[in-house]
Amino acid sequence: MADPAPRILPYGEAAIAEATAAIAHGDVVATPTETVYGLAGDATRSDAVAAIYAAKGRPSFNPLIVHVADLAAAERIAVFDDRARGLATRFWPGPLTLVLPLRADAGIARAVTAGLDTIALRVPGHRAMQALLAACGRPLAAPSANASNAISPTRAEHVAASLGARVALIIDDGACAAGLESTIVHDGVILRPGPLSSEALGLPAFRVETEGEITAPGQLASHYAPRKPLRLDVASRKSDEWLIGFGEVMGDATLSASGDLIEAAAKLFDALHRADASDRAGIAVAPIPDHGIGAAINDRLRRAAHR
Ligand code: TXA
Ligand code: MG
Repeated sequence: MADPAPRILPYGEAAIAEATAAIAHGDVVATPTETVYGLAGDATRSDAVAAIYAAKGRPSFNPLIVHVADLAAAERIAVFDDRARGLATRFWPGPLTLVLPLRADAGIARAVTAGLDTIALRVPGHRAMQALLAACGRPLAAPSANASNAISPTRAEHVAASLGARVALIIDDGACAAGLESTIVHDGVILRPGPLSSEALGLPAFRVETEGEITAPGQLASHYAPRKPLRLDVASRKSDEWLIGFGEVMGDATLSASGDLIEAAAKLFDALHRADASDRAGIAVAPIPDHGIGAAINDRLRRAAHR
């Protein structure tokens, strides 16, 4: 069951050089982004993309996000209308993914988009992913660096625990600042709530009904699932539960004692990883307000609680 330990290097020139060589070889490497750690491979090579799906155990009908260095690189891959270009100009680099029509001559491996005629693109703001994109000089497909349906990784240790030696190299640059996967937008509709809230984007709030549409295949299933049962909106825990607190609900650990939603988002997945590893049989989570990034926190918690 236990995989051998993967190679972990701290962020720096040596790590970027080794990661670049691995990607040029068609291998996959884990790198931090400002949202979660990603599992990166050359988006133009079908063998590299196949290696990403294999390492995650991800069904190949669930398409990947492609990371590029800047808007110009994105415009060579997808067709932007004025609204999309406006969002990109305001929020890139940053935790925003745009789903856009794929250019036929973009050179992206077909498996990346799982046969869709749209592609999910983002320009990440994190120095490690930026350095890797610059050194590789090509678009990098990178889903979250966790086994399919498991809790997303916000630390190098989470990647190592979930993927083991199925990843050639993990670049360690500490905890991710945002801690939740990017907000995904398609045609002015939020497909996945994330660090950029509907208020910040000036778009209608994410509606759960949206997940029924085929445009967001990865949003259909239970996701972000801890191994243990999870109860939400809990003020006091049962004796065999690990309580994740927020604000006045203290718990065994707290997402934010001061009730700060940004802090809570950054800590959420680490708190779930810890709760899953605790000696208690179940996990309970305090109520989280639904405004701002709270909408994205509650989205991830609902999926984690779904069986
Ligand atoms: O913050 C993030 O977005 C992280 C970091 C690593 O960049 N990546 C990430 O990737 O969360 P992943 O693969 O775990 O989630 C990608 C989501 C899936 O729900 C997938 O279904 C959706 O994006 N997606 C990808 N391409 C799509 C498309 N053409 N249309 C609709 N949804 C798409
Ligand atoms: Mg994921």
